[in-house]
Formats: sequence, structure tokens, C-alpha cells
Amino acid sequence: MGKCHSFYVIKGAEYRMNAKIPVGVLGATGAVGQKFIKLLENHPWFEVTEVAASERTSGKIYSEAVSWKQVTPIPEGVRNLEVRPCTPGLNCRIVFSGLDAAVAGPIEDEFARAGYVVLSNSKNHRLDEDVPLVIPEVNPDHLGVISIQRRNRDSAGYIVTNSNCTTMFLAMALGPIHKAFVVEKVFMVSMQAVSGAGYPGVPSLDILGNVIPYIGGEEEKVEVETRKILGTFNGKTIDLADFPVSAHCNRVPVEDGHTESVSVKLARKTSTAEIAEVLRTYSGVPQRLKLPSAPQTPFVVMEALDRPQPRFDVNRANGMATLVGRIRPCSIFDYKFTLMGHNTIRGAAGASILNAELLKAQGYLE
Ligand SMILES: NC(=O)c1ccc[n+]([C@@H]2O[C@H](COP(=O)([O-])OP(=O)(O)OC[C@H]3O[C@@H](n4cnc5c(N)ncnc54)[C@H](OP(=O)(O)O)[C@@H]3O)[C@@H](O)[C@H]2O)c1
Repeated sequence: MGKCHSFYVIKGAEYRMNAKIPVGVLGATGAVGQKFIKLLENHPWFEVTEVAASERTSGKIYSEAVSWKQVTPIPEGVRNLEVRPCTPGLNCRIVFSGLDAAVAGPIEDEFARAGYVVLSNSKNHRLDEDVPLVIPEVNPDHLGVISIQRRNRDSAGYIVTNSNCTTMFLAMALGPIHKAFVVEKVFMVSMQAVSGAGYPGVPSLDILGNVIPYIGGEEEKVEVETRKILGTFNGKTIDLADFPVSAHCNRVPVEDGHTESVSVKLARKTSTAEIAEVLRTYSGVPQRLKLPSAPQTPFVVMEALDRPQPRFDVNRANGMATLVGRIRPCSIFDYKFTLMGHNTIRGAAGASILNAELLKAQGYLE
């Protein structure tokens, strides 16, 4: 990949500097992959030029390969693209990865080595010491580890990850709370939507009228990813935040939207009103930079005692905000509250796209 005059040159192809940046979607047929394609339709900076998936679907036209589950039609520019295998040689600068975690690790490595910027939703590289796990409103400075990653791996491209979907809403809300009051302990119970398990996901006979009190690997992810996101970039790697997180994760018969009941112990004295104010008025780097996918405010603090609810609130702020409600005292820790957010938008594809926008705005795509 190189740059000359007013053109980018990528794998022999030239792109005008002011043209949209060509992007590919790996795992384009899956739940997260489809959300990428939907969210990237008419994106002001990025244009989907490649879709890739497994041997099962590659070689087919996208509209025939995919079991499209979005409420809007497949974008015209993508409908007739041929699904390519997930190997470098794709005509694009960035790859957004919605790959199954069983295969994502080595494929993402291969793309980064080949010079692509890889934005991953999978768990495989989130905890690598030289890979940033980023929520732009919370830890944009962790992008500093990219130069170390490139050096370590002698790689022209690089990998940036976003968190597990349940971690997203917890870490996002804890970000400003930790900054203001210093978190000492966290206890969280999740009620997670079925779309979080991908497509076709959980069999209907297992989940209809039921609650499944186990999601393999999920609690461990939430407990460590939250501490990495709220950790400190020490110039070489990320030191994990120094507080324990205990997570209970449940699958519930909700289509989209993960709900979380959270209790926190804080080092500094505060009040429910002050916590609400900190969240309501919080503005991060994406808001200041007016990134195209950034919600106007990262948090919607709801006053009604019975909100947020996935059915009514999941699409607030285009699915990019964390909804907060029921902030109240906790008789074991200090305070407790309810969080909710769109697991395949802010918890997955939308988060990756916001990370890519941050990379562009901060000069990491030059
Ligand atoms: N769903 C969520 O809310 C959510 C949130 C955050 C993170 N994630 C993570 O995002 C990733 C994707 O999740 P999902 O829910 O979208 O899963 P999914 O619906 O099962 O989709 C998986 C995708 O991976 C592709 N794939 C499978 N095996 C492959 C192979 N050997 N080579 C190339 N491609 C292969 C599939 O292509 P074919 O159609 O060709 O088989 C499909 O496009 C996972 O790592 C998941 O943990 C999901």
C-alpha cells in the first residue's frame, strides 16, 4: 500500500485522495457483517468495495449468499458484489471483521501483515498486549499502542479491536464514573438479546419463554475487557484498571438490546444526582470531532422508573448511545443503575465504524 500525489495506491489500484476510502467486510454474511453493510450505506468517508466470507458462500453474489435480516433492503452497491474468500488481495484499505471467532485470529493477522487496517469485533486479539481495545469516548489514547504493534509484528497494517457487546455498555458508562469518582468494585447482571449469538444463533425452542443463565466465555470477557478499556496506556502496553468486576450473563428472549443491572463501589463520595449529571453532560473525543457515527451525547439518562427497555429504546441515537436509568443507592455497594444498548450497533459494527472514523480523524489512515 503506498501513496503518491493525489492518489492512494492500494495493491496496484489507484484511489483519489478525496474519494471515499474503500473498505471490505470480512464475515459479511453474518449478523455483525450485515450490520456493517447496513451502517456503511451512504457513509460519508467509507465505501464497501469488497465482501468476504467462508468457502460456503464465497464465489456467490452477495444477495444470493446472504440470509438478509435487516429491515432495509441490501444496499444497491453491495447487492451484486461477489463474495470473496477471506484472504488478502481484497481491493480496499480497511477491513471490518465480523468473523466467527473460531477463524478470526489468523485471518485478521494475515490481513494486518499484508498492510490492511483491520477493525475487529472478534475476541481473538482483544487482549493482545500490543492491540488496542478502544471505545472512542473512553480510551482514545490507547491507539498509541498501534506503533508498538507495527514494530513488534514488523507489519505495515495493524489491528484495532472493539469490545464484546456486553462489555461495551458497562465500560462506556464506567468511563466517566471512574474518572469522576474512582471505581473500586463492579457487579453486573446482564439480560442479553438473541441477536448477540449471531445468525441463526440460539434455537427458538431453547429461548422462547425462557432464560438461559449461561453464555460461554461471556462473563470472563466482560470481567477482563472492562479493566483493559479503563486501564492506562503506559507508553508500551495497557495496565489493567485495578478493580474487580463480577459479571453474571444471561440470554433472554429479546431480539436486539442488551440490558445490564450494575452495582458499583466508589472511592469518592457522591450522589445519584451527581452521577446522573456526569453521564448526562459527558462529551468525548468523537463528540468534539463530530465523527459521522458519533451520537450527539454518548449517554441518554432516562428519568422514567421503568426505562430503558429494549423494545422502546434500543434505537435511540441510531443505536449508538448507552441508555442509563434507575440510578439509586445500593445497600451492598454504593450505587446501582440499569444500562441498555444495541448489541449489534454500538456493541459491534457501529463501534468498529466509530473506531475507524477516529483513526481517520487522528491521522492513522495516512
Ligand atoms: N452478534 C453480536 O451482537 C456480536 C457483538 C459483538 C461481537 N460479536 C462477534 O462478532 C463476530 C461475528 O459474530 P456474528 O454474530 O455476526 O456471527 P455469525 O452471524 O455467525 O457470522 C459469522 C460470519 O463468519 C463467517 N465465517 C464462518 N466461518 C468462516 C471461515 N472459515 N472463513 C471465513 N469466514 C467464515 C460466516 O460466513 P458464512 O456465511 O460464509 O458461513 C459469517 O459471515 C464473532 O466473533 C462474535 O463473537 C458479535
